[in-house]
Amino acid sequence: MSISNNKPKSKQDLKTTASSATDNAKSARDLSAVENDFVVESDSANSSAQESVAAITEQTTSDELSFVHDAVLLQETVAAVLGVKSLPKQTDDAGQNSLQMSGIYVDATFGRGGHSRLLLSQLADDATLIVFDKDPTAISVAHELANSDSRVKVVHDSFATLTDSLAAMGITQVDGLMADLGISSPQIDDGSRGFSFMRDGAVDMRMDTSRGQSVAEWLEKVDDETLANVLYEFGEERHSRRIARAIKQMDSYESTLELAEVIKVAHPNWQRGKHPATQSFQAMRIFINNELGDVDDFLEQSIPILKSGGQLAVISFHSLEDRRIKQFLQRHSKGQYPEDENLPMPPKRPRYFSKPKRVGPSKAEISQNPRSRSAWLRLATRTDTDYVADVQP
Ligand SMILES: C[S@@+](CC[C@H](N)C(=O)[O-])C[C@H]1O[C@@H](n2cnc3c(N)ncnc32)[C@H](O)[C@@H]1O
Repeated sequence: MSISNNKPKSKQDLKTTASSATDNAKSARDLSAVENDFVVESDSANSSAQESVAAITEQTTSDELSFVHDAVLLQETVAAVLGVKSLPKQTDDAGQNSLQMSGIYVDATFGRGGHSRLLLSQLADDATLIVFDKDPTAISVAHELANSDSRVKVVHDSFATLTDSLAAMGITQVDGLMADLGISSPQIDDGSRGFSFMRDGAVDMRMDTSRGQSVAEWLEKVDDETLANVLYEFGEERHSRRIARAIKQMDSYESTLELAEVIKVAHPNWQRGKHPATQSFQAMRIFINNELGDVDDFLEQSIPILKSGGQLAVISFHSLEDRRIKQFLQRHSKGQYPEDENLPMPPKRPRYFSKPKRVGPSKAEISQNPRSRSAWLRLATRTDTDYVADVQP
C-alpha cells in the first residue's frame, strides 16, 4: 500500500472544475463505445470498424487519449454522495454557488478524476477527499491534482483496502463513498494495456501494472477447465469450453489481436454489433483484477466506515456487479431474517442502509456518451444502526 499525504500547496481554483469536468465529458471521444459497437459480419466489416477507430484516434492527440474519460452519471453521483437532490447550476471561478460542504469523502476509483473534480467544487476548504486507484497512470493524474489542492489525499491501492488505508491516515469514518467501477476509457484506448481486442498490445489487462500477474502469464499456466470456468463465470460465455480449448492451443500470448482472432474463429455464434471476444476479454479482465472480490470487500467495509447519514454511491457497468450491489443493499436495508437453517430463531439482520435507489443515465447522456448506456448508479444512506461485526452476512 502506498499512501501519499500531499503538502498543502497554494490551492488552485478547483471550483472552476465543475464546468471543466462537464466540458471534458463533452469533448471526449468514447473509443470504448466504438469498440463495443464493433460489427462482426465479415473481414471487411472488421477492417472498416478498425478504420473508424483509427480515424477517431487520428483526430485525438496522444495526450488527450491518455487523459480523457467521460465521467458517467456525473451530477447524479456527486449530488448523491453529498446527500442532496441536485447540485447548484454552475459553480463559478469565485466559488459562487458551491455547496461548500465540510466532511471527509472517498472517490474509490479516481480514473481521470471527473467525479472527484466535480465533488471538490462543492466542498469547503476544510473538507478532505481521499482518492483510490489501482492504475499507476490514474494515480499520477491524482498526484497532479493533489499537488494543487491540499484537500486531496491519494492512495495507490485497491479500494478493497479501504479500512486499512484510511486507518493509516488516522481516519475511521467518512461522510460519503463513491465508486465508478470497471475500467476507464484511457485504459481501453491504450492498446499496450491489453484490455482492447481492437488495438494490439501485450496480453496484460492488469489495472495495477506494478504488481500481480498478467493475463498472458496466467494463460501460460492455467488448465483448459479452469480457463473455461473463468470465461463462463465472469463473462457468462456460453461457449467457454470450446474457446478455452482454442486459447490453450495457441503457441504464445503476446498479442491481444491474435488472442481476439483465435476467440473469434472458435466462437460458433457471432452476434451482430458485438465482437465475439467481448465476453471472454471481460471475463479474463475481471478475473485477473479480482474485480468482483474487491467490490464485495469494499461494500462490506462501507458499513462501519460510513457515518450515520453518510452516503454510498456506486456505478456499475455490467449485471455481475450490479446484481452484487443490489443484493448487498437489499440484505442490509430490509431488516430480514438471515437464511440460516441451523439457527431456529436467528436475530433479524440490522438495517444498516435506508432509501436504496437505482438511477440510470438520461437519454441525453446516452446520446452524448454511448458508454453510459449500460451504467447503473445505486445509492443508499447509512442509518444510525451501530455496526455489529459478527451478525450473519
Ligand atoms: C470507470 S473508471 C473511473 C473514472 C472516474 N470516475 C473518472 O471520472 O475519471 C474506473 C477506475 O477505477 C479503477 N479501479 C477499478 N477497480 C479498482 C479497485 N479495486 N481499486 C482501485 N481502483 C480500481 C480503474 O483503474 C479505473 O481507473
